[in-house]
Amino acid sequence: MFFDYRGISREGKEQNAMQNLMEIIKKRKSVRTFDENRPIEGEVLSQLEEAVPEKKEGPMNNPVRFHLLDMGKVSGEELRKLGTYGVIKGARFFLIGAVEDNEGALEDAGYCMEEIILKATELGLGTCWLSGTFRRSSFARQIELTSGEILPAISPVGYPAAKKRVVEKLFKIGNRSDKRKPWDKLFIGPDGLSPLPPEEAGVYKDILEAVRLAPSNRNLQPWRIIRDEDGDFHLYLKGRREGRSPEGRIDTQRLDMGIAMCHFSLVAREKGVKGQWDRIEGLRDTDPPLGDLEYVSTWKENSS
Ligand SMILES: Cc1cc2nc3c(=O)[nH]c(=O)nc-3n(C[C@H](O)[C@H](O)[C@H](O)COP(=O)(O)O)c2cc1C
Repeated sequence: MFFDYRGISREGKEQNAMQNLMEIIKKRKSVRTFDENRPIEGEVLSQLEEAVPEKKEGPMNNPVRFHLLDMGKVSGEELRKLGTYGVIKGARFFLIGAVEDNEGALEDAGYCMEEIILKATELGLGTCWLSGTFRRSSFARQIELTSGEILPAISPVGYPAAKKRVVEKLFKIGNRSDKRKPWDKLFIGPDGLSPLPPEEAGVYKDILEAVRLAPSNRNLQPWRIIRDEDGDFHLYLKGRREGRSPEGRIDTQRLDMGIAMCHFSLVAREKGVKGQWDRIEGLRDTDPPLGDLEYVSTWKENSS
């Protein structure tokens, strides 16, 4: 299991772990229809519960709170209010995340929640990031949201149903969910303009590929990464959507950034690349013609 591979140095094992994590990342696809006749039980349920910590800190140091909601334990009236506007069907469990509304909170929520989602994928379970299509206030009650906290997203968890519903197929077509932007649109070299070809990325080839395969809201894939002359990787947000989003206060593109950072860090760790994400003071957003990019964070290698 990828969570246990920390510190393994033997090449063979690392290779194995690497394949596993990339396989898990490739295997994860949004699931919106669940098998009502196949409950999560026994060892799988215990491992899932173990993977959902009460609190977890992200790279921007915000503690994110989690709750695994068992719909089977919610009664009558409240159960009827826990809706997803018909988007999700048949899920008995929902993962709910909450975080204090501070700087970097949404990146951290994205990061920590994606780690749990990948773990669930590894356990053979289906998930679906939901930042908009659910009744926020009723899920907020279930995690006992405090006044300073926000509830960025939830995800159903369960075994995928054999047959998808029409609404699910429409979501996938509408978002072109099976497609990802090509490498040269996402990863950029030191001049900030030319693409960084995969064959020049060295050990970072798989790490960046893991970012490319990440899920994002409406599959907009807003992440861009520039590698500078020193080999540091600067993460930017491209194409900010202006105006009020249906998700209200939740800037979902910041969740997307956290998810990308999570994929980057997990694969780096498995490849034995040590480093961390930090926000560099003074690094500004880029202006056109570099591409109107909003600066998020920088990955720097370190030896510890
Ligand atoms: C932060 C975030 C929020 C999302 N919100 C929703 C949502 O509210 N409703 C929904 O049906 N899908 C939602 N999605 C799922 C995306 O549409 C999906 O991840 C994307 O189309 C890529 O497809 P895939 O997950 O199958 O790879 C969200 C995904 C992310 C990462």
